[in-house]
Amino acid sequence: MLQVLVYFVIVILVSFSNCVQNCPTKLLDSCSCDTSIEDGVIGLKIECRNTDGKRLNQFFRQLREEVQIPIHSLHVTDSKLKDLADLPDGLINVRHLVFNNTGIDFETLRQSTTSLSYLKSLSIYNEQYTEIPELFFEEMHELTHLELNDVGIAVISEDAFNYLEDSLRVLRLRGNKLRSIPIEIASLQHLEILDLRDNAICVVADDLTYKLESSLKSLRKLQLDRINCSCGFEKTAFASWIRSYAIRGVRCYEPSHLHGRELSITPKEDFCLSHSEHNLVSFSAMIFLLLNLLKMVFNTYGAI
Ligand SMILES: *[C@@H]1O[C@H](CO)[C@@H](O)[C@H](O)[C@H]1NC(C)=O
Ligand SMILES: *[C@@H]1O[C@H](CO)[C@@H](O)[C@H](O)[C@H]1NC(C)=O
Repeated sequence: MLQVLVYFVIVILVSFSNCVQNCPTKLLDSCSCDTSIEDGVIGLKIECRNTDGKRLNQFFRQLREEVQIPIHSLHVTDSKLKDLADLPDGLINVRHLVFNNTGIDFETLRQSTTSLSYLKSLSIYNEQYTEIPELFFEEMHELTHLELNDVGIAVISEDAFNYLEDSLRVLRLRGNKLRSIPIEIASLQHLEILDLRDNAICVVADDLTYKLESSLKSLRKLQLDRINCSCGFEKTAFASWIRSYAIRGVRCYEPSHLHGRELSITPKEDFCLSHSEHNLVSFSAMIFLLLNLLKMVFNTYGAI
């Protein structure tokens, strides 16, 4: 009985919230709209796909005519925003922006007349850039989460992360063309997660390690998947740093017997196994397995 009552209350609440029209009644087919609550404030969550600059602007014009509540997030996928000269009006309160394969220009974001000062997360995927422009984050004082995955970045300019020193917690630069951990990251003193997987980073030099270690005091996770863990690696400053702070996510790529192993929990002795020792380890592991198997079989049949 009570369950039925609760069910009806929920149904009534849901239909009531639909009456308080938040999303426009008629929408362009390329975008969908939903409501979301952020910091106790109701706002809109817009998702667009297969659109272009002109249609996006048109959509935002229509939206502004029909609704008054702020837009909290905009997510655009597989679109053609190359010619978009400015971000559409109405994004003044936007907290989350995602562009995935849209061709949007970094300059459009940097020079947008809409201030992005409430932006908390910015994610750009599958684009072709080579460098993060200067002063790019100047207005984004609240940005805690930045992802630039598969965007072709090979170099990070000296002041790329200026203005993010006090806010950024998560940085993902996955699937780019970096050959070493960018030193500029050392200025991001509150960073907790740094994802650099699928780049060409196989070593981390000692002097770079000292700089990172002395500034990245909050780092819990450093995701690297191409590290060369050949014998001698365990003595490097990098290996010592990762192990002594138990920072997770660093994985060996080679030699083959360490492929995929997590650096922070791999015993030091494992790095310099000679060939015969290596074989011996595999051999004893096999014997151990066999014994356990026998024990299991014995237990099963012993019980019968
Ligand atoms: C980007 O879009 C592609 C194609 O629509 C999709 O497969 C992929 O999961 C998206 N990536 C992210 C990170 O959302
Ligand atoms: C990995 O490191 C070892 C020892 O420092 C070196 O001999 C080897 O060439 C490195 N492998 C690659 C692919 O760079």
